[in-house]
Amino acid sequence: MTELVHGSGDIAGARAEVIVVGVHAGDEAPVVPGSAAGVDAAFGGRLAETLAAFDNTGKTGALTRLPAPADLPAKLVYAVGLGGAAEVDDETLRRAAGSAVRAAFGRENVAIALEGDPVATATGAALGAYKFDGFKTEGGGDGPPESIAVYGATEADAERAAILAEGVAMTKSWVSTPANLLRPPTFAAEIERAAAEAGIEAEVLDPEALSAGGYGGILAVGGGSAAGPRMVRLSYRPEGAAKHVVLAGKGITFDTGGISLKPPAGMWDMKSDMAGAAAVVGATVAAAKLGLGVNVTCLVGLAENMPSGSAYRPSDVITARNGKTIEVLNTDAEGRMVLADVLSRAAEDEPDAVYDVATLTGGQVIALGRRTFGLMGREAETERVARAAEAVGESGWPMPFPEDLVALMDSPIADVSQCASGLKRDGHMIQGGIFLSKFVPDDLPWAHIDIAGPADSGEAYGYTAKGPTGVPVRTLVALLEGFEG
Ligand code: BES
Ligand code: ZN
Ligand code: ZN
Repeated sequence: MTELVHGSGDIAGARAEVIVVGVHAGDEAPVVPGSAAGVDAAFGGRLAETLAAFDNTGKTGALTRLPAPADLPAKLVYAVGLGGAAEVDDETLRRAAGSAVRAAFGRENVAIALEGDPVATATGAALGAYKFDGFKTEGGGDGPPESIAVYGATEADAERAAILAEGVAMTKSWVSTPANLLRPPTFAAEIERAAAEAGIEAEVLDPEALSAGGYGGILAVGGGSAAGPRMVRLSYRPEGAAKHVVLAGKGITFDTGGISLKPPAGMWDMKSDMAGAAAVVGATVAAAKLGLGVNVTCLVGLAENMPSGSAYRPSDVITARNGKTIEVLNTDAEGRMVLADVLSRAAEDEPDAVYDVATLTGGQVIALGRRTFGLMGREAETERVARAAEAVGESGWPMPFPEDLVALMDSPIADVSQCASGLKRDGHMIQGGIFLSKFVPDDLPWAHIDIAGPADSGEAYGYTAKGPTGVPVRTLVALLEGFEG
């Protein structure tokens, strides 16, 4: 784990192997800001000229590695482009810091000073300093630097950034863990351990307790696996907090599709079908470590969707926790079965808001891609989530609930159909949201966040490595902050 510290004084004096500075975009050469003046002086005032020779004119995404001049204590100087000085926002700083740290893997320590908000710089640096350890017995490759000093940041800034990045890292590591090592009972135990470490109370329901509680959806999906399902409920109750928010998550530790079996190509990706549960737990732990003044309940439904003699099947009618009956048409639409119970349970607490997070539909990836999650639910809440996402450099887009799609989810024999009649794929992502809405009382502020695409980056960029992203942990923390007081 990389240690994040704050640095003070001129970064030119930093005792680090790598010094990172930011430069603004200029016409033929970058513009060196005040925060890099000392480093520029060490280059004899020729930093801009030197970078221009390497085609770095300060555009975003530009990164040049230079040997440090003799009078700097560092070995290397990295210059990252920040774009035009007038356009630099927090996400520009996060991405620049994160990409510089990713370029410094294998180096011992890094010092960084970017012109602008040091919290954004610290957050980007901390997010970039992540690597999943993996299971190679030798030759695991370079890891992140041992320490990063963020110049201009206070100790509190560095600590906040480190807590956020830890929440994201915890989420990513769970998502990367193969499905044989993270089945519902083990995942529940890991969540309990993480909660205990953060001083959060945890309760785990096993299949017997789920049965007694009428959690028909979770039991149906988990029934095909030798490792039975679990529901975990975390309660963070800080003194004096007035508002209460529930974060709910889909935690399918592996999604084979069940009896409606998925094709083999790509099935391996379905070890990440618990990314929603991992994210809500990561956000709850971060909220507790930040000491946020809001009550948070985190509810996750954990199950392994397997085909077997005890698996649920298309045509089954299942009764969810809120008493509604569901006609099953495709056992691969298991996430919504689990969330039907989780959302029913969430509503019983009458919280001020509920946000659920799920890798729910392939339709989300088709509609919005890998960097923008789908938002469904009450308009005020989907807008609120989209705003929170934007502020932290994540992205979400609110979708409508058109009446023709609502009608598609009617069942001739049960209260609701699990899938559109005839398995029509019209508005596929939205169908998932419509189904979930049947398990949320009309007067409950609620938003559903479909992260099927954004859970995995597909490629490295900015502070994000290729693989799990930990989205939307930071959006959720920002949302919770809005409920403080
Ligand atoms: N876990 C998948 C959704 C998914 C797809 C997540 C791709 C990440 C990447 C989900 O359980 C699923 O299989 N959904 C089906 C629903 C259909 C059967 C109604 C889908 O999206 O096709
Ligand atoms: Zn599925
Ligand atoms: Zn799934």
